[in-house]
Formats: sequence, C-alpha cells, structure tokens
Amino acid sequence: MKSALTRTQALELLCKYNKEPFHRLHGLTVEGTMRWYAKELGYGEDEEFWGQVGLLHDIDFELYPEQHCVKAPELLREAGVGEDMIHAIVSHGYGICVDVVPEHEMEKVLFAADELTGLIGAAAKMRPSKSVMDMEVSSLKKKFKDKKFAAGCSRDVIKQGAEQLGWTLEELMEKTILAMRSCENSVQVEMETLV
Ligand SMILES: [Fe+2]
Repeated sequence: MKSALTRTQALELLCKYNKEPFHRLHGLTVEGTMRWYAKELGYGEDEEFWGQVGLLHDIDFELYPEQHCVKAPELLREAGVGEDMIHAIVSHGYGICVDVVPEHEMEKVLFAADELTGLIGAAAKMRPSKSVMDMEVSSLKKKFKDKKFAAGCSRDVIKQGAEQLGWTLEELMEKTILAMRSCENSVQVEMETLV
C-alpha cells in the first residue's frame, strides 16, 4: 500500500480543513493509533498508509458535519489522495453515514479504534495524570458501561468494531490503550507546533 502524499502533505491537508484543536488532536491520535496497529498486526511496511488514513479520516467533519464521509472523497481527490485511501477513509462511516463496508483489516481497525480512542481520550482527561499511561482496562470498562459518560461515543459502534475484527471487546480495549500510550507524547509535542 502506497500513499500518494508525504506525511507533511497529509498533515497540511488535515490542517487546511480542520482549525479546531480538538479535531486536529483527534486526527493525530488516530494516526498514532493506526501506526501502532500496523506494526502490531504485521503490516509494518504499510505503516505510513495506515497512519495517513488515521490522520485524514475525519477530514470533512469540521466543515461538513452533515455530509460526513460523503464530502471527504471530493476533498481528498482534489488533493491527489489515491482511491484505495479514500475507500479506507470512507468505510469508517459504514452503517452510520455511508454504505461502504470495511473490508481490509486496516479498515476494520479504523472503524473500531476511531470511536474507542474518543472514549479513552475522555476517560484519560478524568484521571489525575490526565494520561493513558496509567490507565487499566478495568477502569475503561467501567467508563464503557456508564452510558452517561462520553455519551457521544457509541458503544454499539465499538462493539460492532470488535466483532468485525473477531476480537473480544477486552482485546480491542487492551490494544487500543497500548496504541494510544505509544503516541501520547509525540502527539502532544506535535500539537504545540501547529498554528
Ligand atoms: Fe474520528
């Protein structure tokens, strides 16, 4: 899998359409998470592709929330992004805003991890450390069960994501915590550099 863009170009593209720090942070976090998963699952040579899919997956969300995953192909094509990456990005809206099924393992990971990184990020903010570094699966499970906590993070999508991967919910949680630990510092550092 070969990305048409360099990482620098992909980051510029994210920042062109996303000015809100929260959205940039989310893109960078999902990027770092996808990079960890690529290596973890034996797709190390495709790490850049997986990472850019994560970075750009919500490209249209800030400006076109009503057309999420529908507007994205247009913005991405215009920037020279390849059709394989566009498919991967759009498929994370499967059953929510589009009908494009996640097929490749990378697409299934994006679908499952996107929503879960949101929940983990919200849970981390509540911790004295404000970090995922000392977060355990047991405490995340409690947050998952508490429907009022981060109510915008769909538990059904996370469960469906784990099923599509053939993993238990616990496995998905364990791995995604590790993935987020791997990039927490570098994401914070990079956020400081973005204006
Ligand atoms: Fe997302």
